[in-house]
Amino acid sequence: FSVASRHDRDAEGLKKKMNPFLEQEAWEQHQIAKATLKFGSRDREVNAKDYDYVFEDQIDFVKVSVMGDTDERPNETESKTCFEGLQEDRKSLPIYSYRDKLLQDISDNQVIILVGQTGSGKTTQLPQYLHEAGYTKKGMVACTQPRRVAAMSVAARVSQEMGVKVGHEVGYSIRFEDCTSEKTLIKYMTDGMLLREFLREPDLASYSVIIVDEAHERTISTDVLLGLVKDVACYRKDLKLVISSATLDAKKFSNYFNLAPIIEIPGRAYPVDILYTKAPEVDYIDATIVTVLQIHVTEPSGDVLVFLTGQEEIETVHEILKNRTRGLGTKIPELIICPIYANLPTELQAKIFEPTPDGARKVVLATNIAETSLTIDGIKYVVDPGFCKIKSYNPRTKMESLLINPISKASANQRAGRSGRTGPGKCFCLYTDYNYDHDLEVNTVPEIQRTNLATVVLTLKSLGIHDLVNFDFMDPPPSEALLQALEQLFALNALNAKGELTKTGRRMAEFPLDPMLSKMVVASEKYNCSNEILSIAAMLSVGNSIFYRPKEKQVYADVARMKFGNEGDCITLLNVYNSWKEMDFSNQWCFENFVQIRSMRRARDVRDQLEGLLKRVDIEIKSNNNLVAIKKAIMSGFFLHAAKLQKDGSYRTLKNPQMVYIHPTSGLVEKRPRWVVYSELVLTTKEYIRQVTEVKPEWLVEIAPHYYDGPATMAMSHGQGKLAL
Ligand code: CDP
Ligand code: MG
Repeated sequence: FSVASRHDRDAEGLKKKMNPFLEQEAWEQHQIAKATLKFGSRDREVNAKDYDYVFEDQIDFVKVSVMGDTDERPNETESKTCFEGLQEDRKSLPIYSYRDKLLQDISDNQVIILVGQTGSGKTTQLPQYLHEAGYTKKGMVACTQPRRVAAMSVAARVSQEMGVKVGHEVGYSIRFEDCTSEKTLIKYMTDGMLLREFLREPDLASYSVIIVDEAHERTISTDVLLGLVKDVACYRKDLKLVISSATLDAKKFSNYFNLAPIIEIPGRAYPVDILYTKAPEVDYIDATIVTVLQIHVTEPSGDVLVFLTGQEEIETVHEILKNRTRGLGTKIPELIICPIYANLPTELQAKIFEPTPDGARKVVLATNIAETSLTIDGIKYVVDPGFCKIKSYNPRTKMESLLINPISKASANQRAGRSGRTGPGKCFCLYTDYNYDHDLEVNTVPEIQRTNLATVVLTLKSLGIHDLVNFDFMDPPPSEALLQALEQLFALNALNAKGELTKTGRRMAEFPLDPMLSKMVVASEKYNCSNEILSIAAMLSVGNSIFYRPKEKQVYADVARMKFGNEGDCITLLNVYNSWKEMDFSNQWCFENFVQIRSMRRARDVRDQLEGLLKRVDIEIKSNNNLVAIKKAIMSGFFLHAAKLQKDGSYRTLKNPQMVYIHPTSGLVEKRPRWVVYSELVLTTKEYIRQVTEVKPEWLVEIAPHYYDGPATMAMSHGQGKLAL
């Protein structure tokens, strides 16, 4: 691997570089072992060549711009963890000098917009100020976060600062995990959870203040939430709203909330040198690794923050960095590698906040999570490859995909700023300044304009909001996407032809699941197999992390997996769950069968909660071992995702015909049944379907005659005629 080949002078810009990355992602997702091998060839080289290697393969950066003030200020004092120390820390935050003004403004206005740089203390301090000022006597203070990890970690921090236990006065609530109690006064929660709260309590009577934090992220839940709280505020004059955001598009929020006052907390930004590569990098994973090592051996002390796009990527980089630095032995100082992403177990998340020991350097490998939601002290260097994973929905093909995309300028600036929090910093961008100027969009498109709206529409309908076209969205979703969400819910029998919620729809809305999954759960009543379907729904909800396949034991792992049958992935998941349960939820069993214990425990928790919700909607728990019944229940949720085998081994989806392939990790990839339904479609190198179940075509007509047998009767459906099977 030579320097020349990496510095391929193809200056076509970032967008042209997408293909290798897609391929990269495909590797990571399906063939991690292979991907590491690919990088592994370099590893061996490192071990042989040792220290010099790092310099031989370095990347040239050019300094183009400086961000922030240039007058230097003394570094912050070391943060102490004892209670008194924490109180001192609280007073040293930029927001502290605004405490009285903030409380006054909140008292004078119903809605305020709060803007301040990441780390100024918005998330951790404001709820405490409101508590100290007595607001919690009238109701809880809620603070919403777009991300689960942020909600949990901030709740932990604030409980520490207040000297209480998490879950008591300060708690958090995220999907499938409620860590609050009767005592709770300050509640950190994901924006999605507050949305669900509306279903139980449309006037949010238990709250005195709602802080919609990280509003600039514009997640779909935040956007819907803004519309709903705006409405509630009209008739609950005692409810206070704070919309808090890290970037400066505050005017837009202010306009939306009838010219609510904007309060700006000046940041304490130290100057940041922004360095760009001279030429685009062909392989950003590789470039990231080289850059981190380069910083480690050439730059003065200070921790490094690296932005990657997802868990797999983080694990790959982690592995390679570990191997490389091990090869370098004691010649260089210790490099402590800390990954952080949404699914990282809680006990490991805390590691990123631990102070770095003297002489060592910490490198935090993070997803977008560290862009604004998390504040990590001590970061001096940022490595920004310039990408993030973005969910996008194509209303034409009705396909949702999670793709790696170039970030926006706003994100790039935000990322760079992370290095200048506690002293002057440096940001190493793995793209050129030309790319920055010409290829990056100014802002990220709000999620509501690029996602499948079925879940949101179902929630709004169950809140009694019928006129979705005139709902007060800050940026309305495309009407085509809205129409399709209605169509999908109609097909699932959640809405009737007039667009009103049906009994099935009302029951579906109780479950914090995607409409297709919740339909499957509700349909299990008819097939007397709710017990089995609950396990399947829970296993599907924990994601694709049930099995593991260590490199050196792949054959054993595959043999173990075969024991769980090949009737389809959902049935396999059910068999795994049942076997584990039969073994009294044994850890040893998981170990022997190459099943991830952590994912299984989570599935069990999720299952318990779903069981509670099933009772709420009056569905009895019934067990049924008949595979046909179970598959029919699955199909009742996923019939929109039916596909038929083609001669060339690919599949063709029934509605909106499109070529797809069974994912390599599916148990059905060899068997290739004639007819299948799938739960997920991922676009990487190919269009892959995941969690595939073998079905019979006649069930389609039996289960969804309105969809597959007759012309669609719905007024809003556009010309979907009868489909020949
Ligand atoms: O919300 P904002 O970005 O304005 O700041 P914050 O999250 O309230 O963070 C304020 C300070 O709290 C940070 O500078 C950290 O020193 C500290 N903090 C922490 O140590 N651990 C956390 N989990 C969160 C914050
Ligand atoms: Mg914050």
